[in-house]
Formats: sequence, structure tokens, C-alpha cells
Amino acid sequence: EIDMVKLRGIIGEYKDVKWGLIPLLQAVQEEFGYVPPESIEPIAEALNIPPSEVQGVVTFYAGFSLKPKGKYVLRVCRGTACHVKGGQSILSSVKKHLHLEEGETSEDFQFSLETVACLGACFVAPAMMVNRTYFGKLSPDKVNNVIGQYEK
Ligand code: FES
Repeated sequence: EIDMVKLRGIIGEYKDVKWGLIPLLQAVQEEFGYVPPESIEPIAEALNIPPSEVQGVVTFYAGFSLKPKGKYVLRVCRGTACHVKGGQSILSSVKKHLHLEEGETSEDFQFSLETVACLGACFVAPAMMVNRTYFGKLSPDKVNNVIGQYEK
């Protein structure tokens, strides 16, 4: 259950903003950690656009998620520079450690696992991010240490 009062508050702030949809969705995601499906309808109403349009934007932009994500989102690079430095073994170590596949979130909402095309950290390949923190020159051992820092 999401806090509808909070949601209405956020919507109110963007109601009359021109081109307000994306910033509004960003604000909603910032508050709740995702864009709750039940927010689509009230957002559409407030901005006077069809719900399908709101839904479309949320689905189109990879930055938005309709599902709650873990407290820590791990993004493992699957780019070329990382690949040649053993990125595949990094990804499999992460999967094994977390018991998650790509796109999955742990049941306790501690971790989500994603892969990305390049983290822009090729010079320290193989690399991954945990939320906004970079980790480079990874090895399977190092992966276990990194994840260990974020475990409950
Ligand atoms: Fe992995 Fe660029 S290819 S960070």
C-alpha cells in the first residue's frame, strides 16, 4: 500500500507545470523507489492526458520501474571492455552470491540485479555499481566483499 496523501502532494506540485510528466514521474520514483501502478491513473487525470500515455512513458524509459526495487541496485557491466576482462565471471559471481537473475529483486527487497551496456568506467573494467557507487577491477572474490558490505 502506498501513501496516497504523499502521492497527491507530489502530483499537486507538478499539476500545472508544462512538460511536467517526466519530472513528476521522477519525483514519484524518488519518493517511493518506483512508480506504483496505482499512481498512473491520478497522474493522468492531473495532467489531463490519457493513462496509456503515462504508462507508455514509464515503460519506455529504462530509468522508470513499475515494480519496487531493492534498497541496493547492483548494475553489472556487460560492455565489451568489461567482457574481455572477465565480466562474465563477475556477473555469474553476483548471481550466485545473491541467488538472483538479471532483472530480479530479492524477497526482502535488499537487492536488485541489473546489467547495463557500459557504466562509463571501462578504464577500471570489469566494473559494477551499487546504487551510485562504482566498483572496478573486480574479481569474483572482490565481488563477494563488495556485496558483503551491503548485506543485512
Ligand atoms: Fe564496462 Fe564500459 S564496458 S564500464
